[in-house]
Amino acid sequence: MEKKFYLETFGCQMNVVDSEQIAGLLEEMGYEPTSIPEEADLILLNTCTIREKAERKVVGHLWQFKPLKESNPELIIAVGGCVAQQEGERLLEQLPHVGVVFGTHNIHRLPEMIQNAKKGRRSHEVAFLDKESRLRLFPTRRCDGSISQFVTVMQGCDNFCAYCVVPHVRGREISRPSTEIVAEVRRLAENGTREVTLVGQNVNSYGNYLPDGLSFAGLLVRVHEIPEIERIRFVTSHPRDISDELIKCFADLPKLCSHIHLPFQSGSDRILGLMGRGYSRRAYLDKVAFLKRVCPDIRLTTDIIVGFPGETEEDFQDTLALVEEVRFADAFTFLYSPRPNTRALNLQDETPGVVKQQRFQCLLDIQEQISLEVWAGDVGKNFPVLVEGESRQGNGQIFGRTVWNRIVNFNGGSELIGRTVPVKIIASYKNSQLGESVKI
Ligand code: SAH
Ligand code: SF4
Ligand code: F3S
Repeated sequence: MEKKFYLETFGCQMNVVDSEQIAGLLEEMGYEPTSIPEEADLILLNTCTIREKAERKVVGHLWQFKPLKESNPELIIAVGGCVAQQEGERLLEQLPHVGVVFGTHNIHRLPEMIQNAKKGRRSHEVAFLDKESRLRLFPTRRCDGSISQFVTVMQGCDNFCAYCVVPHVRGREISRPSTEIVAEVRRLAENGTREVTLVGQNVNSYGNYLPDGLSFAGLLVRVHEIPEIERIRFVTSHPRDISDELIKCFADLPKLCSHIHLPFQSGSDRILGLMGRGYSRRAYLDKVAFLKRVCPDIRLTTDIIVGFPGETEEDFQDTLALVEEVRFADAFTFLYSPRPNTRALNLQDETPGVVKQQRFQCLLDIQEQISLEVWAGDVGKNFPVLVEGESRQGNGQIFGRTVWNRIVNFNGGSELIGRTVPVKIIASYKNSQLGESVKI
């Protein structure tokens, strides 16, 4: 009988791509996937530690699997990703039922570690690899025919923003050679993929230290040349590093979707300085203005941190004012969470928790209203939707996305999957829209 693995992924696109690679390795070892942990011979969590809550969730989840291990001693429980990288051996000490802990650079070691665990030897591997080895081990997305896929263009981060754990758990920034990226996108395209999202923690600095000197904008041009690819997206952009050359791509490359995720974090220059973000409020707004000039229908989304150490009411008002000025289509808002090894731990933080919570709620309310208005403005209009599959609600509808990355559910046959069709938006909800087919 085939052995089964249960794999759960937390966190960002990096982990999603890594999980694909992990699933591929496990299938090569003869495991098949299951969505039921009770059925699994191997349970694997690919984890995130960006905020304390994310980390606590993972650890809580791991405790829930303890009874399964007690009733089935052969069961192997493995932890990968950013919590594994951060905690290493401590996870094995804390969680006696966990057998394998592998860090963000050690996915290729997993088969051997699983074999060891089968023999009763628990192990952890969290060493960072050197550049050459990492270049060899860049994760490749499997060609499963999905209409929309992520492709890794870089890993790690050199920015060390004062609050952020990513550079500590993912290591230094490294870019993947453009020839490999283009070859991967071509392979995906030949297997049915029509949209690619190029992913990295800071794609705007793509190409630093690469011999061919190609910029991220240059990479976009190469991907744009692949005929079957109809849409291109990228995440995440750092406002400091987004170049004029890249902004102009929104005018020059028709396949580049008119959407950009551009986290600003805080609207206060003083807080941006403490965060070490490397741009001012003015510089951010200038880039936004330039983006809107070259691409008038562009929509922006962003990330914002509330309650960074030392944030005053005035700083917070600067953040609110920026949100009202830019009118982001969506914003991911976070309460500052202290993370291990980060510089912000050394800053004075006198703002009471309740005040932070009030600010957070106030920002949420304002942004929610703006988002509602932005998306409601689509109602009654027709937009091209790239159809990705059957609706998740299971009501016979199909779903796709507009260029702004919003999910649209509508009545239509599965023969439309993979095609871009005009759809009239008839209702707009918090996270999706409802549409109807437009006869052509
Ligand atoms: N590389 C991306 C961010 C990845 S983390 C970038 O620089 O834009 C995603 C988001 O999590 C960040 O943009 C930030 O808003 C939030 N975040 C990161 N660390 C955090 C912390 N310690 N507390 C609260 N939010 C945090
Ligand atoms: Fe974290 Fe800053 Fe790097 Fe983004 S750019 S991953 S926020 S250190
Ligand atoms: Fe989380 Fe690691 Fe991504 S901490 S956000 S999974 S890089």
